Order: sequence, then structure tokens, then C-alpha cells
Amino acid sequence: MVTGSENWNLAIFRDSHAASEAAADVVSTAIQSTPDAALAFPTGSTPLRMFDILAARAARGDIDLSSATVFCLDEYVGVTVEDPNSLTRWLKEGVLDRIGVKSDRLHTLPVTAEDLVAAAAEYESAIAAGGGLDLAILGLGPNGHIGYNEPGSSAESRTRVIALTPESRSQASGYWEGAVPIPDLAMTMGVGTLLEAKQIVLLVVGEAKANMLRRTLEDPMSAEVPASWLRRAGSRLTVIVDEAAASSLSVMDPDGPQHPVTGGDGRDRSF
Ligand code: PGA
Repeated sequence: MVTGSENWNLAIFRDSHAASEAAADVVSTAIQSTPDAALAFPTGSTPLRMFDILAARAARGDIDLSSATVFCLDEYVGVTVEDPNSLTRWLKEGVLDRIGVKSDRLHTLPVTAEDLVAAAAEYESAIAAGGGLDLAILGLGPNGHIGYNEPGSSAESRTRVIALTPESRSQASGYWEGAVPIPDLAMTMGVGTLLEAKQIVLLVVGEAKANMLRRTLEDPMSAEVPASWLRRAGSRLTVIVDEAAASSLSVMDPDGPQHPVTGGDGRDRSF
């Protein structure tokens, strides 16, 4: 159950386009107020529309990400940017080049390092050295992961190597229609790393995520659903969803518990 003592924000929009536009607005506002912001972006299908909106805004000159820094959220261990299944390559070619983030301002996860533990610690230092993440946009995995913080991840976890669940590997395989192998291991920013971001957006669309979103927001926070830890960020967290993803939330039940809902279709709503 969503409790009144948790002061994170929930914004429900009519459809995925409106939700994506709201997420793009958060990025635009962040970059306008802090042109050299440090950002983390998700990969996957959820953010595609948001990236298209940002690319259109960049092409029109409405936003300028040329001074922004991007830290990759996750990547498969041993995979280079030349590999077809590289998440970094997907992000760089499919997104960052289009929205105007410079290649030399992209921090890639050190997944080919000889000493992965030391390299992951250096990645953490690089994030901290720049003053931390200004904004992390995240998607919600079907198993509740954020980045590749799989079930079992603690709220204090840092950038590290993690074994992927069969569910996540099969989800990832779908992105390439099964044509490329998905490694067993990934490196991911930790939940603790993400919780230190000045602003966090969890973007969730579609009915397929409705039950996991309900568990994320209404069950007690636990490592079983790593995304639930994000609630610890309080007002620094904004959960942006469409009505389909929100359909199992108690706030959608007029007889259910009351919780303020901000945003959504351009008006404030409360249930
Ligand atoms: P999806 O993935 O956007 O493709 O559903 C989300 C995630 O696993 O973070």
C-alpha cells in the first residue's frame, strides 16, 4: 500500500506518448538549468518514444546536450562497442548521436577490464568526481530490475558485476530477435549509486508492467523487487506512467487508499 509518509511523486498520463513527453520534459528542464548535467539513460523499448521526442527537440535547437555527460547504466561483461549486442553501442548510435551528446562525454562501463572489481570502483569514482548524477531516467524490468540490478540487489549496492536471471536474458534476447547471444553476466550501476542521483525518473508504460509496478510502489520495499528501493529517494523520485501501467495501482481504485497524484494529462489529480 502506498503510505502517506512516502513523498515520492506519481504522475499518471493517458497514454505512453503523453508519459514519454513528460519524461522528455524532465530531461529538457534538467539540461536547460544545468547544461553540463550528468545523466543516466535506460535502454529497452520503454524509452524509445522519449528519445524520439528529445531528438526532435535537439534538431529544432530547443535543447542542447553538447555539454552533458552520460554515464552508461549497464552493459554485458566482455562485450565491446563493436559487438552487435552492446547496450553502449545501442545507446550511442541509436540515441546519443541523435540527441547531440558528444562521444567524448560518454562514460562506458569497463566490462572488458582485467580486474572488473577495481574497474567498477573506478567507475563509481568517476561518477562521484563529477559531483554525482544530476538525473537518472530508468525503466522497470519485467522482474523488477532497474539497470541490471536483478532481484536480490540491496539498496546499498554499487556498480558491480551481476549474474543475469534467465528472465532478463530472454527479455534482452528479444531486442535482437534472438539473433545474438546474451552473456550470463552484466555490469550495472548499483541501486545505491542510482539512489544518490539528484533526480530520478522511473518511466513505465503498458499493461504488461502493471503488476510489477504495483509491487514496486505498493508492496514493502525489498530486494525481491529492486525498483522498490527507489522510493527511498523520496521527493527526488518521480514515477511517470501511463494509465495502462497504472491500472493495478490502488490509486486507480476510487474506493482505494488516498494518495496524491501529481501531473497526468496536464492537471493535478488526487484519489
Ligand atoms: P523495456 O525494459 O523497456 O524493454 O520493457 C525495461 C528494463 O528492463 O529496464
